[in-house]
Amino acid sequence: MNSVVISGASRGLGAALAERFAAPGVRLLLVARSADALAEVAARCAARGATAEVAAIDVRDAAALAARLAAFEAAGPVDLVIANAGISAGTTPAGEPEAAADAARQVEVNLLGAMHLVGPLLPGMRARGRGAVALVASVAGFRGLPDCPGYCAGKAGLIAWGEALRAAHLDDGIAVTVIAPGFFDSAMGDRFAGPRPLLLGLDSAAARVQRAILAGRGRAVFPWPVGALLRALALLPPGLGDRLVRLVRFRVMPGR
Ligand SMILES: NC(=O)c1ccc[n+]([C@@H]2O[C@H](COP(=O)([O-])OP(=O)(O)OC[C@H]3O[C@@H](n4cnc5c(N)ncnc54)[C@H](OP(=O)(O)O)[C@@H]3O)[C@@H](O)[C@H]2O)c1
Repeated sequence: MNSVVISGASRGLGAALAERFAAPGVRLLLVARSADALAEVAARCAARGATAEVAAIDVRDAAALAARLAAFEAAGPVDLVIANAGISAGTTPAGEPEAAADAARQVEVNLLGAMHLVGPLLPGMRARGRGAVALVASVAGFRGLPDCPGYCAGKAGLIAWGEALRAAHLDDGIAVTVIAPGFFDSAMGDRFAGPRPLLLGLDSAAARVQRAILAGRGRAVFPWPVGALLRALALLPPGLGDRLVRLVRFRVMPGR
């Protein structure tokens, strides 16, 4: 993987993955909104021998992203793109349901943002017969949860899009890895007020994601018991499933 694009690379999982892929001879394009934080991550990647460029772009801005990706590809084709940028909202600390505007914003960033990042790179990968795409979704995409409707919708859409892409490009030499993590330690994870079963450390989550990508796995769900539980809940009759998912409630602290 000599040329890697990562969104949401200014902190958390994206920054950890950037450092993991950073090595001599590797070109990185790090995407997020915060220029200063991106510059710090880029410096850490450069210290590991990589050439790290930054793109302070909102993934909702498809045109700006496409232009920056084209400029990056002009110096060499992208081997791997990781769509990791994400936001979360949900039930407020006062117990108010998620606002519709917040739900829409999560779908725009978590689903459409991934399409804006990956879409422009697919034709080149297809023409070369080589490339890898990784989509960071969530186990929350397996079954709608009462405290984070917009998050679940965006992640369910991302999983569906990734599975479709994987099948569509099966014979094109493009490996698509759909990643569905449970909770891990990060700014986002820390804003959930509620139980976080089988919580993973950030480095452990990043290691699992990197291993899955390097192994060309089509799907990575971890920790598997959390994924299996949510998949099982999705198979239950709606009335029973709805009652069971209401047993564990979250509040989401305001944040980025
Ligand atoms: N943490 C968990 O427990 C957990 C569990 C399952 C799945 N996930 C998923 O894992 C991914 C990484 O999460 P994390 O926990 O590392 O979150 P995080 O620490 O909050 O980092 C999110 C990253 O996304 C970027 N971002 C947010 N909105 C953006 C936008 N509009 N345009 C460009 N970049 C944007 C942020 O940078 P800027 O603010 O600088 O733009 C930041 O780099 C997300 O997709 C998340 O949904 C997380």
